[in-house]
Amino acid sequence: MEKEISQAVIGRLPRYFRYLGELKDNGVQRISSQELSSLMKVTASQIRQDLNNFGGFGQQGYGYNVEYLYHEIGNILGLNVEHHLIIIGAGNLGQALANYLNFEKRGFLFKGIFDCNPALYGKKVRNLTVQPMEAVEGFILENQVDIAVLTIPKDSAVEVADMLVRNGIKAIWNFAHVDLNAPQGIQVENVHLSDSLMKLSYNLAKYSDASQKG
Ligand code: NAI
Repeated sequence: MEKEISQAVIGRLPRYFRYLGELKDNGVQRISSQELSSLMKVTASQIRQDLNNFGGFGQQGYGYNVEYLYHEIGNILGLNVEHHLIIIGAGNLGQALANYLNFEKRGFLFKGIFDCNPALYGKKVRNLTVQPMEAVEGFILENQVDIAVLTIPKDSAVEVADMLVRNGIKAIWNFAHVDLNAPQGIQVENVHLSDSLMKLSYNLAKYSDASQKG
């Protein structure tokens, strides 16, 4: 049976992936856990522990092969396959996400964008055209969509998520201000940018306090 990896470790993998990607792009072929540690500002033992979950990838006295580790972590994160996404809610946030090109480099392809506001139907957002919600069902069937992005107000988020799941969506990237509970077999990632901002605000207050006290 495959070993269960903790969500804390999974949560750190994208950061490893990002740093290793940069090292790879800069022509670095191998790196020790100490070097990676000082670059990423996490302890070398944390890095070793995290990567040991997946068999380690490192060799005593050699360190990590950057390219290999980058690809392995990418595989673990499921980035070796393409994902098809649809965006529900073609407002500010939905359009901003659709316009962000870097998701495609990681294999996340936006296939459609939908809204319930007739004033937006037919509007071009990069390579997509805003379609009415009535078209979602048929679209999912025809395009093998696996991820839906919810950028709609919270009032309708639960109802829309249920409809998407009924139609075969397996994962929801939820930006609506409500924590969606994942039904059995469905993955949900609730994103709240304001949580991050509040953390920043806390640290700002703490830092200001400390500097005032000298
Ligand atoms: P917006 O008002 O520009 O866009 C929302 C769009 O959703 C509109 O075009 C509207 O017609 C559409 N919509 C509403 N109900 C719908 C439904 N049942 N089905 C399909 N489309 C529907 O708002 P914005 O700025 O794009 O934000 C979108 C949502 O994301 C808001 O609820 C906002 O509170 C939330 N938000 C969340 C953030 C986060 O970090 N989680 C950050 C920023 C916004």
